[in-house]
Amino acid sequence: MESYSYKNGALYAEQVPLSTLAARHGTPAFVYSRAAIEANWRAYAQAFAGRDALICYAVKANSNLAILNLMARLGSGFDIVSVGELERVLRAGGAADKVVFSGVGKHAHEIRRALEVGIKCFNVESEPELLRINEIAAQLSVTAPVSIRVNPDTDAHTHPFISTGRKEDKFGISHGQVLAAYRLAERLECVVPVGIDCHIGSQVTSLEPYIDALEKLLTLAEDLERHGIPIGHVDIGGGLGIDYHCGNLIRAGAPRSQAGSGDDTATVPDVTAFAEVLRDRVPARYHLMLEPGRSIVGNAGVLLTRVEYLKTTHTRHFAIVDASMNDLLRPSLYQAWHDIIPVTARADEREMDYDVVGPVCETGDFLGLQRPLALRPDDLLAVLSAGAYGFCMSSNYNSRPRAVELLVDDACAHVIRERETPEQLMAGEYMPEFADAMGNL
Ligand code: LLP
Repeated sequence: MESYSYKNGALYAEQVPLSTLAARHGTPAFVYSRAAIEANWRAYAQAFAGRDALICYAVKANSNLAILNLMARLGSGFDIVSVGELERVLRAGGAADKVVFSGVGKHAHEIRRALEVGIKCFNVESEPELLRINEIAAQLSVTAPVSIRVNPDTDAHTHPFISTGRKEDKFGISHGQVLAAYRLAERLECVVPVGIDCHIGSQVTSLEPYIDALEKLLTLAEDLERHGIPIGHVDIGGGLGIDYHCGNLIRAGAPRSQAGSGDDTATVPDVTAFAEVLRDRVPARYHLMLEPGRSIVGNAGVLLTRVEYLKTTHTRHFAIVDASMNDLLRPSLYQAWHDIIPVTARADEREMDYDVVGPVCETGDFLGLQRPLALRPDDLLAVLSAGAYGFCMSSNYNSRPRAVELLVDDACAHVIRERETPEQLMAGEYMPEFADAMGNL
């Protein structure tokens, strides 16, 4: 989180004080650093320099048009899982022929649109899907490029909800059935196999699961070649984890590389180490593809929130803030950890352990529990590592408008999505005029 630092006790995003953003745009607010996002994408590009590789940013991690536009300008490809994401990519200036379409439940209209705009590849997750793609391609008189998503039965050692490559998971085609799926693809007239892919999970913090999955994928690719089915690309999916414990480093002003990763995480492998695994193992004849999301935007963003009330009960100190589970669902859904740090450092005040909770009427609505903080009402807090799976998973629960999104570029801050209004919250809802309405009164 190099783009976030304290200057004279005030937390900045690049050259902009977060307190200025809160004063101008209100809270809760998602703030992203352009420099961080671009640096994270370029780290991938550099790690694969000289190698025939395409980085397909996983749109689901953060699908704001401005973020997608940054990716498009860098020449990124995109991994999508819905036609909504496809339309966003196109609107943001992304190239259709650099789009891969993943997901277990592609609807017919989504497949049709993807074929019409000419995407690079469908990552196919079942035989019925293959048949459906073939049928729609035939109707459009085109040939659909496909890759079979292999379920390698690899445990990525991450939260079970975001583990996707074990045999009990709904994703992909089990590796024992992959050959049959490619044979079916060969027989169908309007699909052509162009690659092989997998995705084993998200927030993966060691390289071993990738090595395991990759070996299975490469063995399959060779088998397929022996059966006369040549494979053009190998797509290893996304999933490289990030460090969710950067708070101490920011507070200490320490350079990122000199410090450990906080209290309870293993160090997360960096992109160079990840690239080395792929470069060493995947033969050069294969075009290499990846689908990173979190590792590009996660640590480039924070959720800025204001303390509404401080409340002390017999057993707890609560900091009730204006952001909640509807803004950042990860702590409630996955018991995920996000560091929470003050926007204005109070060096000489005594810290207490606070449960940082939101206004939503659920006990599961918290951003962090038992966090040592020195707080006063109206203080601003930054919930770190909120750039990925933050805004895009937010909801209107409790009829709360979704937060404003801001993109900081050096000393400038741009609104990239306005805070929702009450009017927008109710848009598209109707109260029918029932014929019997009067009679019932
Ligand atoms: N490719 C596919 C096919 C995926 O399903 C995903 C994420 C990615 C790529 C990107 O993975 P990443 O590099 O971002 O780890 N909401 C959860 C994460 C769900 C990830 C689902 N798939 C969270 O907040 O942790």
